[in-house]
Amino acid sequence: MSGQEGDADLVYAITHLEAPPDPPEWWRGAAFYEVYLHSFNDASGDGLGDLRGVTERLDYITSLGVDGIWLTPPYASPQDDNGYDVSDFRAIHPPFGTMDDMNELIAACHDRGLRILLDLVLGHSSDQHPWFEESAASRDGDKADWYVWADPAPDGGPPNNWISSFGGRAWRWEPRRAQYCYRPFLRSQPALNLANQQVMAEMLDVMRFWLDLGIDGFRLDAIQCLSFDGALRSNPPARDAENPSVGGGPNNPFKGQMHLFDRDVPEAIPLLHHIRRVADEYDPPRALIGELADVDSSRLAPKYTVGDDRLHAVYDFDLINRGETIWDWRRMLDIRSRYLVPGASLNVFTNHDSPRAVSNLMPEACAAGRGAEAAKMLLFLQATLSGGMILFQGEELGLEQPNLSADEITDPWAKALWPDFEGRDGVRCPIPWEEDAASAGFSDADTPWKRARDGQRAMAVDVQEADPASVLRYTRDLLAWRRSLPMLRIAREVTLQDLPGNVIGYRREHGKTHLHCYVNFGLGSEKITLPQAGLKALFATGTATVDADRLILGGLGAVALA
Ligand code: NOJ
Repeated sequence: MSGQEGDADLVYAITHLEAPPDPPEWWRGAAFYEVYLHSFNDASGDGLGDLRGVTERLDYITSLGVDGIWLTPPYASPQDDNGYDVSDFRAIHPPFGTMDDMNELIAACHDRGLRILLDLVLGHSSDQHPWFEESAASRDGDKADWYVWADPAPDGGPPNNWISSFGGRAWRWEPRRAQYCYRPFLRSQPALNLANQQVMAEMLDVMRFWLDLGIDGFRLDAIQCLSFDGALRSNPPARDAENPSVGGGPNNPFKGQMHLFDRDVPEAIPLLHHIRRVADEYDPPRALIGELADVDSSRLAPKYTVGDDRLHAVYDFDLINRGETIWDWRRMLDIRSRYLVPGASLNVFTNHDSPRAVSNLMPEACAAGRGAEAAKMLLFLQATLSGGMILFQGEELGLEQPNLSADEITDPWAKALWPDFEGRDGVRCPIPWEEDAASAGFSDADTPWKRARDGQRAMAVDVQEADPASVLRYTRDLLAWRRSLPMLRIAREVTLQDLPGNVIGYRREHGKTHLHCYVNFGLGSEKITLPQAGLKALFATGTATVDADRLILGGLGAVALA
């Protein structure tokens, strides 16, 4: 079978056994769609995606069956890091539109029952922010302590050995103060000193500014970097393979240290309490979803979400950076099922910082021309593993990673680590809306900020709308089925053992309701012994044949049984 078939009575029984989470808990196990503003849809015709472009395509997003969108930073910014370098936290970057456009987008989301999360960068700003200009000018001004300043070491060099995850020392020299300034990412992204109460109060007010407009919450950038060691101690060297969660390719120097003092430090937790109190000032409380990168995330995630005074949920990069072999997947599932709090984490298989999921995780299937099947299988996994999910734009089309030539690379992270790391330009290429249109329907401009890829035209939205077997149509079925089983949002996950070579399995359990999931990463079919006879397939991709307690699962197939 494939798609949504199965035993109607059984579906009814499961659906009605488990109520969906209470409305204030709508975020628990929710499905989000990440809109990367730059490359989603350009309504103004200037070559860059924009807010009106998102509003224009909201019916498409709604049709996927997600609960809400996460919108990447729309704030005023010199765009050194595509908006994660903010120069005014209360203004829209003019090429993205106006505050009216933002209000329209919020209203249009709510009209369709979609929630909207804004991306918020609390930990750093652009060096072109007026706060930084003032702070860098002198050691005595009102904002002297708004960023992280330190005297040089006795030899005149930086105060410690911290390095930026984007390459180079994490310190930049400021001659006007004769001091170093901490910058965990780009040179032009100085860290805000959130330990300073004025700075924290200001950032909490920034949160209120956007929440008052009616957004439903925030995706909080890089929560591992909200704080750092007060004594600025140097990090010890890392042992081999100690930093598997760090991106930037195999030779990123950032992997050479154990990040004891510059990432995920205890001082961050009290900051989370303040942030949560602001979200709780609203009725219903607004949602806080954190991005947790650079650290051993699955084990650490609960620290950021336990209780009712931290974040609601986090997502990490483990599924992206670690899923190289079936053994990695098994180990990872085991760790996740032991540590993650059901419903308080989100499964992310790619985003604007990572390669397209199917190329990254299933290269052999892509090489065999079976990318679309593998994409469906990964989507199944993303939708049925414990936790909510964030679908990055274009994943519902099963897009593969485009090849870019060196002269098309604009990502400063890639420039710093090239050629070991190809960077983030590929995944940020425009969404192909129409196979035959100029720029594949993304923009009317002659030269959009990034060229639409000809190799992705055959996967364009209009092509897939017309094909009942497309990844797009499958994604809609999958998410509709997921919505029909509220237990999938909150059920705990138990890893299944003793499976054939290419198969992983997990059981989702909520009360007496059990859902058995099997996923075949191999290209050929596998025979699986089920825990009992009589299980029925509720949803599948590829071929899944059940006979008594035997399941034959086709290559790149996946099935949920109950
Ligand atoms: C995480 C964001 O997702 C990424 O795009 C950005 O470059 C870094 N944070 C630094 O802000």
